[in-house]
Amino acid sequence: MPITPTKYIWMDGELVEWDNATTHILTHTLHYGMGVFEGIRAYPTPNGVAIFRLVDHITRLLDSAKIFMMDVPFSHAELVEACKAVVRENELTDGCYLRPLIYLGYGEMGLNPLPCSVNVAIAAWPWGTYLGDDGVANGVRMKISSWRRHDPNAMPTAAKGTGMYINSSLAKVEAIKAGYDEAIMLAPDGKIAECTGENLFIVKGNKLITPHVADAGTLEGITQNTVETIATDLGYEVAYESLIRTDLYLADEAFLTGTAAEVVPISSVDDRLVGDGRPGPITKKIQETYFGTVRGEVVRYDAWLDHV
Ligand SMILES: Cc1ncc(COP(=O)(O)O)c(C=O)c1O
Repeated sequence: MPITPTKYIWMDGELVEWDNATTHILTHTLHYGMGVFEGIRAYPTPNGVAIFRLVDHITRLLDSAKIFMMDVPFSHAELVEACKAVVRENELTDGCYLRPLIYLGYGEMGLNPLPCSVNVAIAAWPWGTYLGDDGVANGVRMKISSWRRHDPNAMPTAAKGTGMYINSSLAKVEAIKAGYDEAIMLAPDGKIAECTGENLFIVKGNKLITPHVADAGTLEGITQNTVETIATDLGYEVAYESLIRTDLYLADEAFLTGTAAEVVPISSVDDRLVGDGRPGPITKKIQETYFGTVRGEVVRYDAWLDHV
């Protein structure tokens, strides 16, 4: 997905012109992949542009930094304010994608990251659908990857660590080269974990099932949690349970969730149609409510919106 430049990127407390937001080639994170980041979206609402679940994203960003023992020189409140400033100063009134990144800077080399400077950057730009408009409307074709998700004792899966996404990219490339839209990844024990940058749900009858974090070593998705709340409020049962691949083949419906991807129906898994291959009624209802929620059209979820 190409990036559309905006005016400014926030770097260590200053708004820097987009083209000047550069780092030295010996920046530590570039070499060893130890950085943490978030993906956040802002949407237009009837009361102006608002960032969705900003506070929760910044909490997860700082949790990721804690896991990696990165001493972040900005507070939670300062980072929340910085994200709002980036959207405001770039006049992104139609919404955007935000990418906060905490990285280890220039000045030290070697595998001990502790002496490194900790730097923070926040960029934002207009971004369309991650898996395509057709995928959002009609569903995506998924392949179970031959690449396993991380063992949480090898890589801390609760963290959104930059280098950890090599694993996701390997699975993504494998799926795309084989003609699919996206990959589903198994946990080291063979249970269903998540997708390369999304969580997933299946629907069986009136019940929604998503893999349990502690079982599958997944990232605890903010969209997954949003969908859990929406689905429960709509009267569906939601459960965190272990899933195996045939649970996906035999589901009535399935969909994936993520800030970038949003809520996207799954039309097939390993060439087996999910249901009749078209987005099912529960998926459509949840998708519609999700899009209404992020755009400020569902009053009961207003507290999730942070106006800039
Ligand atoms: C590996 C992985 N799983 C799940 C998700 C979905 O998380 P969220 O809904 O918080 O964006 C993401 C995206 O951040 C991810 O990178």
